[in-house]
Parts: sequence; C-alpha cells; structure tokens
Amino acid sequence: MDEIVISGGHRLRGEIAVSGSKNAVLPLMVAGLLTDEELILRGTPRLADTRTLAKVLAELGATVAEFGNGPGEGLNIDTPTLTSTRASYEWVSKMRASFWVLGPLLARAHEAQVSLPGGCAIGTRPVDLYLNGLAAMGADISVEGGYVNATAKGGLKGARVDFPFVSVGATHVLLMAACLAKGETVITNAATEPEVVDVGTCLQAMGAQIDGLGTRILTIQGVEKLHGADHTVTRDRIEAGAFALAVAATGGAVTLTGIDEAALGALAPAMRLAGAGLIETDGGLHVTGPAGRPQPTPITTEPYPGFATDLQAPFMGLMCCADGVSRIRETIFENRFMHVQELARLGADISLEGDTAIVTGVEKLYGAPVMATDLRASVTLVIAGLMAEGETRISRVYHLDRGYERIEEKLSAVGAKIWRETL
Ligand code: UD1
Repeated sequence: MDEIVISGGHRLRGEIAVSGSKNAVLPLMVAGLLTDEELILRGTPRLADTRTLAKVLAELGATVAEFGNGPGEGLNIDTPTLTSTRASYEWVSKMRASFWVLGPLLARAHEAQVSLPGGCAIGTRPVDLYLNGLAAMGADISVEGGYVNATAKGGLKGARVDFPFVSVGATHVLLMAACLAKGETVITNAATEPEVVDVGTCLQAMGAQIDGLGTRILTIQGVEKLHGADHTVTRDRIEAGAFALAVAATGGAVTLTGIDEAALGALAPAMRLAGAGLIETDGGLHVTGPAGRPQPTPITTEPYPGFATDLQAPFMGLMCCADGVSRIRETIFENRFMHVQELARLGADISLEGDTAIVTGVEKLYGAPVMATDLRASVTLVIAGLMAEGETRISRVYHLDRGYERIEEKLSAVGAKIWRETL
C-alpha cells in the first residue's frame, strides 16, 4: 500500500495546471449511457474514480477508451446497446457516483438493478431523493438485498419533482432520466453547482431540451433519442481550491492555470479575509500567501454558490495556523470532521461543538504519521503536512488517488518536498 511522505516548510512557487473536474467527469461518463452513439469527453482527469466508473460502465455494455496524453487527453464512451442493466455491489460500493447509472438505465432500458452505494464515509448519505423522484416519473421501485430494483414499463413519464433540499447527485440523475422521459419534467430545488451545469450543457449538445441550467428550477422536455457529442470537461474548482490553500498555507506564490477567480466561488473572499492574495493574470489565477500567519476566518458550508463542503476540510487545514480562533460549520454532511483527529496529531487545536469545529490557531504544526480517512480529508493532510515542521507520513492514500491527479508530481514541480513510497 502506498504512503505519501512530506517534508514540510517549503514555500510553493511556480505554476500548476488545474485538471478536469472529477465531479463533472463522473456524471458525464454516466450520461454516455443515454445514447447509442459515441460521447467524446476531452480534458478528463486520470483518477482511480474514473477507472472504477469505466469498469461499471463496461459491465453495462459500454466501451470506454482513453485517448491522448496531457491537456489533449480524453475518453470515448460508446454504448451501442445496454448488454446489462445491473450495476453490482462490487463496483458501486467502491464509489457512490456509480449509483447514478440508475437514471440512464431506467430512461433507456426501462429497468435497472443497482446496488446501494458506498463511497466516502462522510455521513449516512441516503438515496431517498433519487428514489422518490424516479417514482414520481412512473418508476416502480423496490429495495431488496442491498439493491434498488426499478422498472418503468413503457418508459419514464415527465413529472414535477420537488426536492426537499438540494442534492447534487439526485439532480444529475433526475436530469438525465428526464431527458428521455415522455413529456415535460420540472425539477425544483435543483443543484446549481458548476458540475451540474457542465453535465446539462453536454446533454444539450446530445440533443436534450433543458431550460434553467444554473438556477433552482430545471424544465426538461423529453426527447425520443439522444445522440453523440464532443464535450470538454470543466476544470476542477475543488482541486484548484486545494492548491490555492496549499499555496496560502506555505506562504508561497503560484499561478493556477486553466481557471479564474470565479471558479473558486465562496473560497475566494474567505481566502482574502485570511490574508491571501488572488490576482487574475493572462496566465491564470495568481495566488500568494499571507505576509504572516493567516487571519482567523469563519466559514459555513452550503450548496453552491455557498462555501463548498468539499473545501471545508482543506480550509480547516489553513486555519490550523491562523492567528486566532476560526469557527467552521458543516451543514451538508453530518460526519465530515474525520480530519480533525488527524490534524490534532500534527499539533492542531480543534474542538467540536455539534456541526461546528472551533479551530484555535497554533504557531506551528509538527510532522507525524497520519491516516487519510476520506477523499477531501486526505488532501487536507497534504496541506497540513506542507505547513508542518518535519516529516508527515500519510497512509491510506488510495483516498487521495480517487480524486487528485498526480498530486505529488504537481506539488513537487512547485517546490514541495513530497513523494510516494510503496510499502
Ligand atoms: C456530490 C459530490 C461531493 C460533494 C456533494 C455536495 C460528486 C461525485 N460528489 O455528492 O463531492 O461533497 O455533492 O456538494 O459529485 N441526501 C439525502 N438523500 C438523498 C440524496 C442526498 O439525504 O437522496 C443528503 C446527503 O446525505 C447530504 C446532502 O443530501 O447530506 C447533499 O448530498 P449530495 O448533494 O446528494 O451529495 P452527492 O451528490 O452524493
């Protein structure tokens, strides 16, 4: 099993190219199942999660082929026929987003058996919104033996789907399902995350009729068939945010290429309050660290355009060394503070009060062995390790590999002392 080792205390300087978005490419790959023609996705990241999903899609009859290298690289997804409508526990338990094949399978084949999901252990993460939404569209659904069995004889029908709260995944699935349903579907309280907009834009290029992308109300007129398309994946705002925080944490100066300040969303003003500098240049977004210790900065996670829950842990990493107390509130997932005990091993002073972490900044973190507990927690340990004095050794880095492309290479190239050891 691999470990990542960091010798901390080095400023990051130079340029980092931001990869294609993990949270966009996964639903885009799933959308490939909606058509019997080829979907070409460009600028895709190479991640453990994309490889896992490729295996799920292959089980269903898709051929997923990688092409190119570097910025020109991508994936071809070709599903002339769905040879199976069953997504097994073996794969779905590895990654929650594989559950999303439920939407296209039901829409195109009118039936699906999909294992209940696994993925990061960051709360109970139920699937009621997906199932209630698909039931409203006429699907007959039962849950047995850990599998969702769904059928829609004669196809899904357009319906009104009112989500009680915002769910990114349920929005993706209902949006995809509605594209091939008969008649009009209206989804209220839809997610407006840039990744949902990216998927919607690709679906439009495939012939879908969608109104309201980027707003809380989506109106979809179902069509008979979708066709192939050629789509470039949006850049990863969550990876970009983690790099921006790593630069701030080390007091460095790095240009992030391929994104602008808007991509960071609510992270940008929070970083400015913390004392970091963000300047848009011709080459990208230039990030500089605060002159001294970061200023304590409160954040509350919320659905987009609020502060992204996926950046909560990395932001806490920066606040560990702030000059004062920061309150960090998590409102999306109920168990997304597993990084707290690992940060404490590096000397951070954090206490938990319900959904809020109270981070009392310390002058210095000190390297220690730590364990990655989930995807976003793992990158937080990287950021903390870059700040810490001495050596930090991170185990269970398969969490990191799920979502960050060649992170140790990207960080080494800007001056970090970080490497991978295979034990
Ligand atoms: C996606 C992202 C993840 C991000 C999250 C929130 C991907 C691959 N993953 O996850 O990185 O952290 O959005 O921005 O894009 N919920 C229910 N019932 C449901 C569905 C969701 O109670 O049927 C709850 C969840 O438990 C959670 C909240 O809704 O508390 C939001 O989750 P959701 O937006 O669905 O997250 P994911 O789509 O799984």
